Amino acid sequence: MTSTINLQDILAFAITLARQAGAKIKHGSATRFEASTGVDEKKNAVDLVTETDQAVEAFVKQEISTRFPHHSFIGEESHAAGEKHILSDDPTWIVDPIDGTTNFVHGFPFSCISIGFTVGGEPVVGVVYNPFLDQLYSGAKGHGSFLNETTRLPLVAPAPSLPSLSRALLGIEWGSDRSPEVMSNKLKSFDNLIGQGEGKAMVRGVRSLGSAALNFCAVASGQLDMYWEIGCWEWDVAAGIVIALEAGGRVFGSKKSDLSAECSAELVTGRKYLIIRGIPEGKEGQVALAKEFYEHVVEWDQL
Ligand code: IPD
Ligand code: CA
Repeated sequence: MTSTINLQDILAFAITLARQAGAKIKHGSATRFEASTGVDEKKNAVDLVTETDQAVEAFVKQEISTRFPHHSFIGEESHAAGEKHILSDDPTWIVDPIDGTTNFVHGFPFSCISIGFTVGGEPVVGVVYNPFLDQLYSGAKGHGSFLNETTRLPLVAPAPSLPSLSRALLGIEWGSDRSPEVMSNKLKSFDNLIGQGEGKAMVRGVRSLGSAALNFCAVASGQLDMYWEIGCWEWDVAAGIVIALEAGGRVFGSKKSDLSAECSAELVTGRKYLIIRGIPEGKEGQVALAKEFYEHVVEWDQL
């Protein structure tokens, strides 16, 4: 199926769309304290949505359906409005209009639009654009991934070695599920990763950018060595998966899955993600690091 679809056309369209959407996000940010614009809560007080999220998704959805009327569409705000979303084999656009909505609301400049495109459930094109820093990450299967269309990722090549978890800078997130069960599993995992002593990895450091898509791009760039999160949705990760894979990274799902398996639709929709950057030790080295990582974390099933 991919052979009948011109990925470069899809990529060029997605880049233009991301820049147009980015201008709307910036405008939304500049006017976010005006009386008519509000912040609403979704599942709880830390799961936010703004009028800009909804307006940007409506715009992007309209542009896609005009240009590609036969393609499917999955978007975070369409899902929130009750639209069914099932990732099928059809060519499908998967969009988060603003990833990092909390950052957007607070003016912390790490929000982006994330536009992914899948065929047969596999992400094959991804564009992530942070309009506040004017950083556009893009990738297409077999064509590499880039920052601002010209700088190939990772930013430093050849990528430096990563012999063990203890040498890593990790991306982790607090997420919006603050239930006691999830927090206890998360804190136990974070302690095992960060702490010193028996059974602890004592990684070099952890960072939380507040946007899953930008965490993926930081791993693709080589600025983070790994990123782990449970609870993201496909719109948070579809674009980032392509960008990370095309930069030599590897994406893993649950610790119970086959770690040598390639990226699949199950992984995209599986809500559990571990991404490891490209390393000179190659796939075996990445699988070994994933095993070491999984020894230190507790998994849970995200509702
Ligand atoms: C969230 C952000 C956050 C991550 C959550 C996502 P949103 O997306 O990416 O960093 O921890 O899992 O749901 O709500 O800002 O689009
Ligand atoms: Ca969002």
